[in-house]
Amino acid sequence: MDEDKERFSAIHPAVAPLSYLLGKWKGEGEGGYPTINSFRYGEELHFSHPAPGKPVIAYSHKTWKLDSGMPMHSESGYWRPKPDGSIEVVIAQSTGLAEVLKGTHSAEDKLIKLQSQVVANASKVREISRVYEMVNGELHYVVQMATNLAALQPHLKAVLKKL
Ligand code: HEM
Repeated sequence: MDEDKERFSAIHPAVAPLSYLLGKWKGEGEGGYPTINSFRYGEELHFSHPAPGKPVIAYSHKTWKLDSGMPMHSESGYWRPKPDGSIEVVIAQSTGLAEVLKGTHSAEDKLIKLQSQVVANASKVREISRVYEMVNGELHYVVQMATNLAALQPHLKAVLKKL
C-alpha cells in the first residue's frame, strides 16, 4: 500500500523530461492567415500530471479577446511522451475538430515539435503543426495549418509566462 502511494505520487519517468511544462501559463498571442484578418488574443494554458503512475500529461487551453475578455477558442487533450524522445498528442478543439499529432521532444533544448497524423471533423483544415519551445523561461509556440485553400503556414504565435 505504502509502495503504491510512493509510486503514484512521483512524476512518471516518461513525463520527467517535460516536467518544466507542468503548471499554469498565461500570455498573449497573435493569429492570422492569408484568408482572415489578423487578431490578438489572451491565453491561459494548463499542463498537469493528474495520474502520476501513468506516462501522460493532461493539457488544456482557453483564449479570450484582449479588449472585451470574451471567450474565443479552447481545446484540451493528452500529451504522451516516450523515453525515446518521441511524443504523441491528442487534442479536441471547441470547434469540433480533433487532432492526433506525433513528433519529438528534447529535454536538453526544451523543444517539442508536433505534426498532425489525423485531423478529423474539419471542414477546411488539412494539416496542423505545432512547435513549443522554452526561451529564457517563457513558453513560446507556433501553430501552423494547411487548409483547402492555403499551404502550411502560421495561424497562431504566442508567448506565455508561468503563473
Ligand atoms: C479562423 C483553424 C486556433 C481564432 C480559422 C480558420 C480555420 C481555423 C480553418 C478559417 C480560415 C479560413 O477561413 O480560411 C484553427 C485551428 C486551430 C485554431 C486548426 C488550432 C489548431 C485558433 C485559436 C484562436 C483562433 C486558438 C483564438 C485565439 C481564429 C479567428 C479566425 C480563425 C479569429 C477568423 C475567423 C473569421 O474571420 O471568421 N481558424 N484555428 N483560432 N481562427 Fe482559428
